[in-house]
Amino acid sequence: MSVIFVIFCYLVLVFGQEKTSNNFYDILNKIRQGYAEYHSTGIRPGYLNESLSRFQLAHFFRDQKTLPRKIIEDGALCEVCNVAAESLVQERKNGMNNVEIRGEMETLCKLLNIEPGRVCDGFIDINADIILYVIDNNPNFSPGKLCDLLLQNQQCNFTNIDWIVDVPDGQSPIRPGPSDSSSTYKILQVTDVHMDLLYTPGKVRTCTEPLCCQSDQEDGSEGNSCGRWAEYGSDISVDLVDEMLRFANTLDINFVYFTGDIVSHRVWSTSVENNSAVIKLFYDKLQNGFKVPVYSILGNHEPSPLNQFVDDNSVPSSLSSQWLFDLVDQEWSKWLTESQKETIAKGGFYTISPVPGLRLIVLNSNVAYTECWWLLTQDKDPYDQLDWLVSILSQAEAKGESVHILGHIPTGSGDIMKVWGREFNKIVNRFANTITGQFNGHTHVDSFQVYYNISDLSQAINVAWNGASLVAYDNANPSFKVYSVDKDTFNIVDIDQWTFNLTKANENPNNYPEWYKIYSFRDAFGLSTLQPKDMGNLLINMAKNHSQLAEYHLYRYKNSDIAVNTVCDQDCQKGYLCEFSTHVFGETSNCEYLKKIYDQN
Ligand SMILES: *[C@@H]1O[C@H](CO)[C@@H](O)[C@H](O)[C@H]1NC(C)=O
Ligand SMILES: *[C@@H]1O[C@H](CO)[C@@H](O)[C@H](O)[C@H]1NC(C)=O
Ligand SMILES: *[C@@H]1O[C@H](CO)[C@@H](O)[C@H](O)[C@H]1NC(C)=O
Ligand SMILES: *[C@@H]1O[C@H](CO)[C@@H](O)[C@H](O)[C@H]1NC(C)=O
Ligand SMILES: *[C@@H]1O[C@H](CO)[C@@H](O)[C@H](O)[C@H]1NC(C)=O
Ligand SMILES: *[C@@H]1O[C@H](CO)[C@@H](O)[C@H](O)[C@H]1NC(C)=O
Ligand SMILES: [Zn+2]
Ligand SMILES: [Zn+2]
Repeated sequence: MSVIFVIFCYLVLVFGQEKTSNNFYDILNKIRQGYAEYHSTGIRPGYLNESLSRFQLAHFFRDQKTLPRKIIEDGALCEVCNVAAESLVQERKNGMNNVEIRGEMETLCKLLNIEPGRVCDGFIDINADIILYVIDNNPNFSPGKLCDLLLQNQQCNFTNIDWIVDVPDGQSPIRPGPSDSSSTYKILQVTDVHMDLLYTPGKVRTCTEPLCCQSDQEDGSEGNSCGRWAEYGSDISVDLVDEMLRFANTLDINFVYFTGDIVSHRVWSTSVENNSAVIKLFYDKLQNGFKVPVYSILGNHEPSPLNQFVDDNSVPSSLSSQWLFDLVDQEWSKWLTESQKETIAKGGFYTISPVPGLRLIVLNSNVAYTECWWLLTQDKDPYDQLDWLVSILSQAEAKGESVHILGHIPTGSGDIMKVWGREFNKIVNRFANTITGQFNGHTHVDSFQVYYNISDLSQAINVAWNGASLVAYDNANPSFKVYSVDKDTFNIVDIDQWTFNLTKANENPNNYPEWYKIYSFRDAFGLSTLQPKDMGNLLINMAKNHSQLAEYHLYRYKNSDIAVNTVCDQDCQKGYLCEFSTHVFGETSNCEYLKKIYDQN
């Protein structure tokens, strides 16, 4: 579920069956009038419910990315959002109390049929305190900012969210190129497990809630019940985490990168207590399961409510993120040293050098997620993390170290605040020759991004390797990657992808799943290296040779039954090219360039 703040229940009014009809704005006005009447008289007029019910928006927030193009172009969505946000802030200033506001949001969520009742109630209950705190404690808060963040995809621009990180002049010296790859470290990347303690085989596989296979949902029928390990569209059983550990240990691994998201998608009923329990359980498993060091980061699902990281020591402890930083500081300590404590406690990020010559910089990129309500309160580099990144990269450059950056959410999509992505890109450009690899999670599918030179967009200068997940929530088979990393240069030499057929594994619940290597990146795409230049050329080749994109489509979803049975059409293929070539939201020059090549071939 793409989780969005409940105020935006209002803005979905632009959708539904009415969107093409001329009386759309009439209905909208009627709703506005209904609320005005309700709030002045205290009596809810009958026509209000009736007007609201005309928009049936089942699961709207789960698929926000597929908004109709028409709305995007005329900016109507931004306008409606702004009206809604302003009216909410106004109601609050007029003295509407927490209970009333929650009640109104819950009613709206249910009347519009956005989610089933307990999902509406639960999600609103756990988010309302933060949202109201933000409104109450920021008298100059501009409601339109909410729209600028949440609807970044729609190019809303009511406030100018901007800040700058100082990046020193110059350029990292060019590092040694690819050397003989016979001597490599094997680095396992595991990501997005979403380990679901309530996952229950035999429960219904397709349900109306955002997460199925839950112990408190109904039993499934023949052909529609959850299997032993996991399901497409759901999270995974604890058994599958154990199974991943068993199988990964049959491979020869030197380190593990875990790139976040432990907690399940039962986002309407998280709590600090329950999240802590599952995070602890997972790290116990990693500690017992791996004999090699594990370097971990935070995912956006780890806080409760999800996505919320606050950089403000003055907030009440019930709203603070400190519990999470303190928890992971403790859980990660087995693999770290005392010197990481300060930055983990401050914001969940750290740096460590696992072997001489290699430096890991482990970021908490969730702080720039557009669904973090705390971003409404201040325009600054959250936790001064990017500033810190610059200082660590400068030190690494001076020492001649090679740097791997680990993050959860990749930049470039609508999920990451544009200004954060822009500043991050500046930093990557400045230290391109020091950064030999970027590793992200969050996407749940196998992907990558090529970074380009800001002053010459034809030059590929860096690469981020994103995703592949253990969870099958986005219809990909469970998987992980093993990177071969040169022992001298720490360049990434190749990437092996491991997966198994989930349908088949569920059909044979008493056997281990049949893991197999689905592809090696270099072989699959005929590359001599994975250096930025070759990856930049790969994108051009893909734009010319569409069968490479068709092949990628299968790798992206790891040959899952769903991917095998769907065709990635031209729009879908061009979408992939844009995903690979966009790392600052809205900066689409390279995407447009590749699409043009695609259309000519
Ligand atoms: C409007 O709908 C809500 C939610 O279904 C319900 O609680 C309320 O009683 C309804 N009000 C009227 C006037 O029908
Ligand atoms: C957004 O508005 C600011 C001024 O408020 C302007 O400088 C900026 O160019 C606008 N951005 C877009 C994408 O329209
Ligand atoms: C926490 O977990 C317990 C046991 O699984 C469950 O009964 C409880 O409802 C959960 N709490 C929340 C807020 O979901
Ligand atoms: C980007 O291009 C400029 C101008 O050609 C050059 O000076 C700079 O070194 C390039 N940056 C990288 C990271 O290669
Ligand atoms: C996965 O397994 C199912 C069930 O055994 C089978 O029908 C399907 O063809 C397999 N998928 C692939 C891509 O091999
Ligand atoms: C296009 O890509 C396919 C699949 O990767 C490959 O088999 C084929 O040789 C390529 N064609 C050309 C003209 O490069
Ligand atoms: Zn995830
Ligand atoms: Zn995530």
